[in-house]
Amino acid sequence: MSEEGLFEAVDTYINSLFVEDDPVLERAVERAAAAGLPEIQVSPGQGKLIYLLAKMIGARRILEVGTLGGYSTVWLGRALHKDGELVSIELEPAHVKVARETLADAGLDGSCRVVEGKALDAMQALSPPFDMVFLDANKDGYPAYLKQAIRLVRPGGLIVADNVVREGAVLKPSSVDANAIGAAAFNQALASHPQLEAIILQQVGVKGHDGLAVARVKD
Ligand code: SAH
Ligand code: DHB
Ligand code: MG
Repeated sequence: MSEEGLFEAVDTYINSLFVEDDPVLERAVERAAAAGLPEIQVSPGQGKLIYLLAKMIGARRILEVGTLGGYSTVWLGRALHKDGELVSIELEPAHVKVARETLADAGLDGSCRVVEGKALDAMQALSPPFDMVFLDANKDGYPAYLKQAIRLVRPGGLIVADNVVREGAVLKPSSVDANAIGAAAFNQALASHPQLEAIILQQVGVKGHDGLAVARVKD
């Protein structure tokens, strides 16, 4: 077996151990695929990880940036503290429509709201405090989204960002790869920001080689 095949097989093994069969999540993936959305949602294991992070801090207000069809939104919405709320921002109307259907199917339409619009505009319109921000939209926007996330997240809260390794492209971003340039600038800002303590989890598996950044806003 190739190294890549082995990493994927182990990821599948982990997912099958720690993520139970879940009709709502399965329907979410099917609904998104049937509507022609790209299949780029977080993996089951990544969903479980962001769910656990939100639960560990007892999150009552979560902001997601980049909803797609609402797969990660369901994970985060399920982690919300009773009476908590989640806002998820999505640019594409077709994605918003699927996400709203999936949230209704999950019984989360009372607590989770999808805002249609550009991430930066929508973030600027929000007021603190959030307990957690999950960044997963266009990676060239990450540096600007980080500034907003720092404004919005309370002390002790979390900023989590997907796709910050990009098969290693962040080591030396090509001048034509705006996403790698954005992710690399984001990582640099995350590492050097005086209000943050952070790390990147390098990940291999069903979504290839990438990474998830996790940062805590200092008290
Ligand atoms: N979080 C989702 C995956 C998000 S994919 C999940 O794991 O299930 C990235 C999403 O960001 C896409 O739906 C894309 O339309 C959206 N997006 C891209 N640029 C955006 C922008 N400027 N503002 C808001 N959303 C954007
Ligand atoms: C891709 C993967 C992601 O997790 C994402 O947020 C955007 C794009 C991709 O594989 O292209
Ligand atoms: Mg992603």
